[in-house]
Amino acid sequence: MDRKQLIKKYFDFFKSKSHKEIPNASLIPENDPTALFISAGMHPIVPYLLGQKHPLGKRLMNVQKCIRTTDIEEVGDIKHHTFFEQLGNWSLGDYFKKEAIEMSFEFLTEILKIPKEKLSASVFEGDRDAPKDTESFKTLISLGIPKQRIAFLNKEENWWGPAGKTGPCGPDSEIFYWISKKPVPKKFNPKDKNWIELGNNVFLQYNKNAKGNYEQLKQNNVDFGGGSERMLAILEGHNDDYLTNSFKLIIKKIENLSDKKYKENKRTMRIIADHIKASVFIIANGITPSNTEQGYVLRRLIRRAIRYGREINIKNFTSKVAEPVFKIYDDYSELEKNKKHILQELKEEEEKFNLTLERGLKVFKKTAKDKKISGKESFLLYQSYGFPLEMTIELAKEKNIKVDEKGFEKEFKKHQEISRTATEGRFKSGLADDSEATTKLHTATHLLLAALKIILKDNSIIQKGSNITPERLRLDFSFPRKLAKEEIKEVEDLVNAQIQQGCEIIREEMTPKQAKEKGASGIFDKKYGEKVSVYSVGDFSKEICTGPHVKNTSELGYFKIKKEESSSSSVRRIKAILE
Ligand code: ALA
Repeated sequence: MDRKQLIKKYFDFFKSKSHKEIPNASLIPENDPTALFISAGMHPIVPYLLGQKHPLGKRLMNVQKCIRTTDIEEVGDIKHHTFFEQLGNWSLGDYFKKEAIEMSFEFLTEILKIPKEKLSASVFEGDRDAPKDTESFKTLISLGIPKQRIAFLNKEENWWGPAGKTGPCGPDSEIFYWISKKPVPKKFNPKDKNWIELGNNVFLQYNKNAKGNYEQLKQNNVDFGGGSERMLAILEGHNDDYLTNSFKLIIKKIENLSDKKYKENKRTMRIIADHIKASVFIIANGITPSNTEQGYVLRRLIRRAIRYGREINIKNFTSKVAEPVFKIYDDYSELEKNKKHILQELKEEEEKFNLTLERGLKVFKKTAKDKKISGKESFLLYQSYGFPLEMTIELAKEKNIKVDEKGFEKEFKKHQEISRTATEGRFKSGLADDSEATTKLHTATHLLLAALKIILKDNSIIQKGSNITPERLRLDFSFPRKLAKEEIKEVEDLVNAQIQQGCEIIREEMTPKQAKEKGASGIFDKKYGEKVSVYSVGDFSKEICTGPHVKNTSELGYFKIKKEESSSSSVRRIKAILE
């Protein structure tokens, strides 16, 4: 069976129970500013659960694409996903507990033919917000589930919602399936990992308000949700969601690209498959990688996948791994329609991260020797090497060391403060022409020199001359041959990556000797005074210089090389602009 067949069976069954199909909504919530993504089928229909009349009536169903960001770190086992499709059915103040549970069991055991003997269930034990759920318990007994296989659990386990910070929520009753080949135990132990959740009936009777209190809703709603991936795994007889038709082609692609077997690299391949699939859907819903909100989640997913790619020796793979996603989900028109754009975004984000990942990992390794990673260090990894904080934390965890997260936040705020000051009142100083345009090009010249050393793999490159007008920079540097087209592009990309990462430019005063010891490059053959200023951009560039410079590389815009030519023997000249 594949996901489309499962969805059809679900729809046919609930249609026969008078449910109407509602659309599979965008992943980006339209009416809930308290959440970044749609995380459940009920999320887009909150107004109707609160009492608004739905034009299609009181019984609804659909399949809803969902993203759960709390699960990012959990992904890697047999059952966690950031992206999943949820089969859902709802009663808007119509049927309640008994009918809902009966319908769920009829679908699972009679339509999907899942043996009842392998099922167990949980119900809410009751607390001061809601009473013990004896009605669900009795219904389960009447369906032939033995008492021993029904657990009464507390709010932590058996209460669902709200999807955002406020909204409908309530006690629930979950259904579990015994996935092991071992005999089914008589008693249901919710802690036993062989019991896998198959679906969940939530009785949305309450609204959690902004104060955190539960108010009784006008109507008693039912919200059923079940992950299609999990159901498929059970129907196909797999003890692993990633072996189902919803993932098989993606895993195969990763196996082919890496020339490695899934069996031996399960966790890594699962993470890559899940994250790239989720990224494809997020981009298809109008988000691009960035450092805020949904864009940041997307960036984290893509970069985490890229980092795991290194573990199985694959590089420049994200857009290739994405290809099968379009095949598996060819019923989503937003995917096919935006295919070019989606693949392009993945490629660009990967190219960007490729520029700094290896060097960042080296810096991390050095830093990790201290057994603790400070706020400054984690911020440097974020700012100069594009490591999302969560990635640094994860890497640190693997080595059993801690990251000062509060210190990171402090650095982050400080940095925002500095950038703001820089844009509010720009400083002026000594150059003949200290216009904003010239200042920017001056900083770009430093980035260019540093990038040339890295890309041309030649640390002996020195600046032989520089001339900057408000329109362009001109840099003469020592190098014996013409640069290849690809090299020019790589230099441009590396400079632009520094710009995009928004690196702070730091000025320090020291003696020329100290500057030399710190590896700062000196410009021209001039004699320095007692003290010199050294300008650094992260640990990417360090130069003795009189300034002025911008405060942050993010002010520079887009860097473009216009010309590369010979200046004199063994000296090359580059002219470049900022757009
Ligand atoms: N909204 C419930 C869930 O996602 C059904 O589990």
